[in-house]
Amino acid sequence: MHVTALIVAAGSGSRMGDGLPKQYRPLGGKSVLAHAVDALAAHPRIGSVCVVIGKGQEQLAETALSGRDVGSLIVGGAERADSVRAGLAAIQGDAVLVHDAARPFCPPSVVDRLLIALGDEVAAVPTLPVADTLAIAGADLGEPVDRSSLIRVQTPQAFRLPSLIDAYSRWSGPSPTDESTVVRGAGFKVALVDGDPALEKLTTAADFARAEQMLTARLT
Ligand code: C5P
Repeated sequence: MHVTALIVAAGSGSRMGDGLPKQYRPLGGKSVLAHAVDALAAHPRIGSVCVVIGKGQEQLAETALSGRDVGSLIVGGAERADSVRAGLAAIQGDAVLVHDAARPFCPPSVVDRLLIALGDEVAAVPTLPVADTLAIAGADLGEPVDRSSLIRVQTPQAFRLPSLIDAYSRWSGPSPTDESTVVRGAGFKVALVDGDPALEKLTTAADFARAEQMLTARLT
């Protein structure tokens, strides 16, 4: 089974205030995007890597990925789903792992679990339980939400490539924030595997500080 990693890195968002999209920010000596690419490219079951970048980010991406064997570099779209669609149009093979570049650390054990599950299924996603108390937001604290009925869904997410392409071709809902939503919408079953706290998406300065600490702890 040929597996392609499709890493979406076309976001323009930066909550850090300097305009640099978060996937290009340095983290322990290389960019967040380079971490995400290296983590997936190092897995023995992943045969090729495709990175989707934003229009005008070509120079940033070339610098961030210098020296890496990225099979294809594709320009994405306005929404995350547009970027995934652009990537899907450019890749071939049996299976795809769609991953957010903003999640720099992907333990190989998560990829192992996803690909084992994909042996029998069309789709598999990593999930974690919700630990915090949850409530409806508002001016005041709203009704509590039963957290036992909720899970957190991470990336990478694994799919049979033809099924994901088929599911996207039939999707007519609002722009989805992940592919499990699209595949479920097409009526496919999605297998759940254990996620990992290391897969946390980086958004705020505090997330970056935590990621730096994680890297330092790994090196000492
Ligand atoms: O904005 P958010 O953190 O949800 O983005 C998740 C991932 O999707 C990021 O890696 C981001 O670069 C990517 N993205 C994209 N194209 C967009 C918007 C986001 O590839 N138009």
